[in-house]
Amino acid sequence: MFQTQHDVLPQETHDEFARAEFCGTLRKFFTETLWPGATDVYKGKQLPAFVRRNGREPANRQEVKDLMEETFYFRASNLMGRCAQELLWDTVGETVERQLPELIEKAKPKANPVGSLKLNPDLPIPRYIQSVDIHVMPGNFHTELGEDDVYAGALYDRGVYYFAFGGMGPENDKLGVAMADYVKTHVADLKPKRILDMGSGMGFSTLPWKTLYPDAEVHGVDIAAPMMRYAHARAESFGVPIHFSQQDACHTDLPDGHFDVVFSCLVTHEMPVHVIKAMFKESYRLLAPGGLLMCDGGGKRTQSPDKEFFTSWFANNNNEPFTAGLNKISLADAIVEAGFDSESIFYSGQQAAVYLKGMWKSEKKADGKVEGGYSGYLMARKP
Ligand SMILES: C[S@@+](CC[C@H](N)C(=O)[O-])C[C@H]1O[C@@H](n2cnc3c(N)ncnc32)[C@H](O)[C@@H]1O
Repeated sequence: MFQTQHDVLPQETHDEFARAEFCGTLRKFFTETLWPGATDVYKGKQLPAFVRRNGREPANRQEVKDLMEETFYFRASNLMGRCAQELLWDTVGETVERQLPELIEKAKPKANPVGSLKLNPDLPIPRYIQSVDIHVMPGNFHTELGEDDVYAGALYDRGVYYFAFGGMGPENDKLGVAMADYVKTHVADLKPKRILDMGSGMGFSTLPWKTLYPDAEVHGVDIAAPMMRYAHARAESFGVPIHFSQQDACHTDLPDGHFDVVFSCLVTHEMPVHVIKAMFKESYRLLAPGGLLMCDGGGKRTQSPDKEFFTSWFANNNNEPFTAGLNKISLADAIVEAGFDSESIFYSGQQAAVYLKGMWKSEKKADGKVEGGYSGYLMARKP
């Protein structure tokens, strides 16, 4: 399967393609083979040894960590996972840098666009964004290498395709398609006139809403200018009218009660808790009565020390430190704190697109509820 071509998608030479395919395959090997193997090492060898030594099971995440770090298997597979990630950005980064002036030129807004782009060069970039290269992506989403830069957008578009080894689909949009489709099917009374994507990035999850709700006006806000420029050019190339603007999702200039759906996808795990709360508060302000707030995740996390440890891999090894805070709070409580009525909150245990096969497996319990896994949506309706 190949990624769908569009005007600003970086193009690879034969050798660049071969190297990038190697990086994708290495990541796939880590995710699908090495990582699940760590659970086998824990359950089959380390846990029984710990119980023999101590007469009890590990009491917390740290004890599980110490136990796993005794093994060469775990130390080596960790290293491989981290190296695969660094190599991936390095490889795709070289490809993007080589053709950056060309991509910048192609991404410049054209006459008579179907959507729109609004940038704000004075927008303050919060410290939590400036201080962490999320996902080990050099420069994070916001860094501008020069005028009209689109480097981060191009790097992320091609990089995510390899990162998920094509599992996000040819347009990296499976998560957005699944979200929009869920609402269309299960919240059928909602006929949205305006839809807003908070932290829309390149618009992977924004465009599917326009396809499913062709009469709705669809907006995306993101703090990072290179993402917004790239998102606009990509959407225009696909001929999908989206209104992108560079804004902080916690304080937008959009009017009160303007939207019928405000959603976010793959965003809360990159934010400190106070920012998640501020984004929900802003979402509440922006929603019309009866409007829908939706975010991915939010399923009840199993709290056993080994599960806690294994799900903290990304925080510890993939520069995603804020997932630790996210795992400690209840998103439902944060939604209530933002003003929503707890009675209006509902959760879908639906398995979203299989993003990182093997990494976040959800389990269906006897009562039909789904626990764990990076799947499911948390939703609330504004009174
Ligand atoms: C992993 S990307 C997800 C992009 C997109 N939602 C998707 O589904 O592909 C996270 C995005 O959140 C943006 N972001 C982080 N904090 C933000 C904030 N306070 N306001 C707006 N965007 C933010 C980042 O710039 C980045 O583009």
